[in-house]
Amino acid sequence: MSTHSWVQKIHSLPVLPQVAMRVTERIQSSGSTLDEISRLIESDAGLTARILRLANSSYYSVPGGVKDIRKALQFLGFTTIAQVVLTSSVFGSFKNPGLRDFPLLPFWIHSLAVGQVAELTARGLNLPQPSDAFIGGLLHDVGKLILLELAPDQLARIARHALENGVSFIRAEKDLGFEDHISLGVGLSRHWKLPELVEDAIRSHHGLPETKSGQIIAWANLWVHLQGIGASGSHDPEMESRARELATLLGLGPSVTETIEKQFRKEFEKAEAILGGH
Ligand SMILES: [Fe+2]
Ligand SMILES: [Fe+2]
Repeated sequence: MSTHSWVQKIHSLPVLPQVAMRVTERIQSSGSTLDEISRLIESDAGLTARILRLANSSYYSVPGGVKDIRKALQFLGFTTIAQVVLTSSVFGSFKNPGLRDFPLLPFWIHSLAVGQVAELTARGLNLPQPSDAFIGGLLHDVGKLILLELAPDQLARIARHALENGVSFIRAEKDLGFEDHISLGVGLSRHWKLPELVEDAIRSHHGLPETKSGQIIAWANLWVHLQGIGASGSHDPEMESRARELATLLGLGPSVTETIEKQFRKEFEKAEAILGGH
């Protein structure tokens, strides 16, 4: 498929649900009230159910349970709400249930974990708008979801090639002469009118990004791979050395990394409730 026809195909995909963009905008703008956000969420039945499930999960163990969104928001906090809204909206936009060569659940776990690690790292390094790092991390590999939706046979071939030859997913795409998941992801980011920063994260996550925010996503991606959390069809033998290089660039010493890891392990306990039911 040529680049031009990919662009057309991507434009045939649904747009990101309004509620996702509006809730994230509201949460990021300081003037938003709990009532406004509750109303936005209540306009979407699926989201409402998901947020109530998370608020009632063992992670929060609220005595007596949580039955309304307003109360749920008070327990969850804005950061977690933004994560749930975005994650379920993004994943809900794709209908293919996954392939034998590319199962969906490990991929979602990979994406969510990279988003969470990136956000914690951005916070640890005092970057403005750390929630943008979550969006970038969550979506860095979204190009693979486009393949799953629009060209599943191609995706299966790439995933098999990467596994059989012990190479990265992007190397496999190049070896087989396919359009890579970076340009597909960038195309979707434009179609969804996502912030520049997200597009930048998608574009640079396999290179050595120039911006701090790009480096954070690239590092978080490798860290999550090296910890064996989830999977994204990549078998890059050079992950460790690239992760070290990025950690040095970011000034992430062992004690900072340890703190991030501790915070992430706690944060990741919410993953099941966030992803459950998809
Ligand atoms: Fe990637
Ligand atoms: Fe990845």
